[in-house]
This record gives sequence, structure tokens and C-alpha cells, in this order.
Amino acid sequence: MGRELRQGTRVVRSARSLPEGEGAPVAPSLVQSVAFDYASAARQDEVFGNERPGYVYGRYGTPTTAALESALAELDGAEGAVCFASGMAAIAAFVDACAIASGGRVVAQEDVYGQTRALFERWVRERGAKITFVDPTDRRAVESALRDAPASLLYVEAIANPLLRVVDITALADLAHKNGATLAVDATFASPVLVQPRSLGADVVIHSLTKYVNGHGDVMGGSVAGGADVARAMRDRTILDGAYLPPHEAWLVIRGMRTLDLRVRRQCETALRIATWLAQHKKVARVRYPGLASHPQHALAKKQFGGLFGGVVTFDLASGSRESAFRFLDSLEVAASATTLGDLWTEFLYPAISSHRRVAPEERARLGITDGTLRMSVGIEDPEDLIADLEGALSRA
Ligand SMILES: Cc1ncc(COP(=O)(O)O)c(C=O)c1O
Repeated sequence: MGRELRQGTRVVRSARSLPEGEGAPVAPSLVQSVAFDYASAARQDEVFGNERPGYVYGRYGTPTTAALESALAELDGAEGAVCFASGMAAIAAFVDACAIASGGRVVAQEDVYGQTRALFERWVRERGAKITFVDPTDRRAVESALRDAPASLLYVEAIANPLLRVVDITALADLAHKNGATLAVDATFASPVLVQPRSLGADVVIHSLTKYVNGHGDVMGGSVAGGADVARAMRDRTILDGAYLPPHEAWLVIRGMRTLDLRVRRQCETALRIATWLAQHKKVARVRYPGLASHPQHALAKKQFGGLFGGVVTFDLASGSRESAFRFLDSLEVAASATTLGDLWTEFLYPAISSHRRVAPEERARLGITDGTLRMSVGIEDPEDLIADLEGALSRA
């Protein structure tokens, strides 16, 4: 700048860039900037035209969110990843772009996360979307749904919420591809520590970053990782639909993600111990946990997840009533009764009043979610304190 600026101009322009100097930061920079200044309009034109990498505006990409996207693409073994403002925003963007918007048919797992199911059902009602719900563990049912009504997308969860059904990703990828469909896996419950679906043949991996990846209960976010074409389509969605993950949130997710492996391993270890303990308790009718031999997909889980079984345990109270479930939740002293999972601390969710509230009672019953079903997301507390908390709450249930 050749001209000497006056104070009023200097304060507006102050501290626009970080001072340069030796030494690379060990924590990522939080670039909380919506816009990016260009000394050359020609350069700016090249960036807008995707001829040169760079940043132009908050919805198109920010350096801090891009750092998270590169890290996720690496963890998910993908060519690219795009982050959204929540897991639901990621699911809505991807499924719409991949199938619904172009009239494609979707074959979806029947017991996906309750809000995902509610979204799909709304699209059927309001947009005439073609979505067939199937039991993903029934190979013949999946195959005939894919074949009879040619589908463009097969949509499943690696470990389903909240019944913890485990899907065979390799077999489903094979079925999807033989029938010309894309396989998308919501790996939120498994996290990249248990499985990298793309290494087993899946095309697209979705995470609610709100859960294990961040793990600290202070950020909502979602991601879609896949080939370059998927990444391009998702970038187009963040630009036009606007549900992009802001830089401060991305910065927090990066910080949380650095302990992902450590947290998830500890959670899996404690969850197995708790599931085993609950299975012999007289006030518990049924325990669902992929690490128990009684789980229908135990052998598959063991092979697919490398000896880890996840941090969520779902169980049915023997009484099977809403009153005793409320008494149980109200009696917890260590665990929280809070609607999320994958955090550092233990959290209970009661599907009948929360995640599956919008699912019709008959459908809930058909899926196996009763008034006695509780979902426990195991944290990193001392396992002895968690078992004592469970014992106390069960005695009052
Ligand atoms: C498996 C699964 N996918 C997606 C979501 C949605 O994520 P978010 O709450 O970040 O929108 C959830 C939320 O619980 C979930 O459990």
C-alpha cells in the first residue's frame, strides 16, 4: 500500500493475517473468515472456475473445514469428503443428490435412525419418492428389492440405531454393484475406528460428526465421503443449500477427533463388560450388543470390526413398561438421560419418546422397539461406577 492510511481505515483493516515466522503450529489454524481477498481478479476468476485451488466464500469451503475434510477423506479412504452442519443435513444432501432428485429408487434399511426414516417417509409422501424399506440382513429380500424395481441407491447403517443390527458391507456392496446401484453406509455408530466401509466395497460413507468423531457433545456436524464425483455433488449442495459446517465447529471436531481411537477402544471395552453384566440381570429381559454370542450377527461383527463391537448397548427392561423406564432414567446418578451418543460421558436414550417418537407404534413394535427398550451409549468413566449406577437404577425400575 503506497498511501498512508488514516486511523479510521487502519482499525477496520487491522490484523487481517497472522504474522509470519519460523515454526509450524501443532494445532490447526481457525480461519474464521467468510470472504477472501484477492489482489488479482484474474486469480479470483480461476478459483471460482475451479481451475485453481483456493477459497472464495464461506459456503464454498473454508481452510479449517477443508482441513477436517482432508482428514476425514483419509480416515474413510475416500477421494473427497464434504462436511455439513449436521448428520441429517449430510444424509438429506447425499440421498437427494444421488437418487431422489433424479427420480431414482432407493432401497433403504428398515431400521435406520428414526429421523432418517422419517425424512425418507416424508419424501415418499410429499415428493412421490420411490423408497423400499428392507431387512438388510435378509440377502434375498435386498436382492429382490434391488432387482425388481431397479434402484440407484442402497442405503444402510453399519451398526443400526438403536437395535444394533450389523450389516455385511462386503456382501451388500456386491449385491448393489451387481444391480447397478451405489452402496452408501452411515457409519456413525461404528466410527472409522471399527470399520472403513469403502475398503469393504461401499461407495459412500456418511458420519454424524456430532457423535463419536467429535465425541465431546459440543458440536453438530455431518460428513459425506466418496469418489471425486460425489465430493463435487456434495460441494454443489453446500453452495446452493447452504448447510455447510462452519470453521469454528470444524476446528472443534478436529480437536475431538484426535482422541477418537483412544476413546472408542475404551468405550468398546467397557460396553462389552456392561453388556455381559446386564445379560445376567433378572430385571433385564434382553440385551442387544454385537459383542455378545447371543447377537444374531456376532460372527460377522467379529470379522468386520476387527474384534471391537462398538460403545452402544441396547436392552429391554423385564417389566416392559414406560413407567419403569421413566423410573430407571430418573434414578441414574452417573449416566445422563440425554439424547445423543458417542460422547465422553455415558448417555441413555429412550427411543419411544425420542428417536422413534415419529415412527408409528405398530412399526416400532414390528422393529422390536418396546416401551422397555433403552439405549446406553457408554462413556469413558470408570466401569465400576457405571455398573453401580446401573444396579441402583435397575433396583428402582
Ligand atoms: C446413525 C445416525 N445417523 C445420523 C444421525 C443424525 O445426525 P445429527 O444428529 O448430527 O443430525 C444420527 C443421530 O442420532 C444417527 O444416530
